[in-house]
Amino acid sequence: MNDADAAAMEASLAAVADACVDIRHALFDRFFAAFPDRRASFMIVEASSRRMTDETLQMMLGLAKGEGWVWPLVAELVFTHRADGPLPIAEYDAFIDMTVDVLAVAAGTAWTPETATAWQCHADALKVMIRKARAEWESAMPAGVPQRAE
Ligand code: HEM
Repeated sequence: MNDADAAAMEASLAAVADACVDIRHALFDRFFAAFPDRRASFMIVEASSRRMTDETLQMMLGLAKGEGWVWPLVAELVFTHRADGPLPIAEYDAFIDMTVDVLAVAAGTAWTPETATAWQCHADALKVMIRKARAEWESAMPAGVPQRAE
């Protein structure tokens, strides 16, 4: 748990809320610009962009606060985010980094070096946790995704 990090992160979230910026629009524009083929995977971006953005922020803040619910949520995320196979780690990394980037832009002058360090630290911790969850699922279910009956 890191109280100073959590306080800095919450202050930046409050600044973005005060500025009435909904960061998911810039986030998804950037994500689809980087991974244009992924656009077709989303049935209802208007709905999923809210939850994906919220949960990514919550997971990083939860890690700063030492919250025990982060690990089971990440384990579920990695299990459900599969189609023909697991989602590439590079896409998780990019999505997390882009979330912090768009938050920084939206926070404007409220974004301090301490804020940047706090978000980056917990963004990196989230990336490590995703890799750990991936490894544990692969070890628990080496056969991978069950085949769908036709
Ligand atoms: C830490 C990162 C992420 C979190 C917390 C997260 C979370 C979520 C959540 C909660 C949903 C359900 C949305 C709903 O019920 O409307 C969802 C859906 C989805 N996510 Fe993510 N996600 C993450 C990263 C990614 C990445 C990197 C991709 C890459 C393409 C992705 C692709 C999708 C897709 C395709 C859906 C289904 C959307 C739809 O059918 O409209 N997610 N995600």
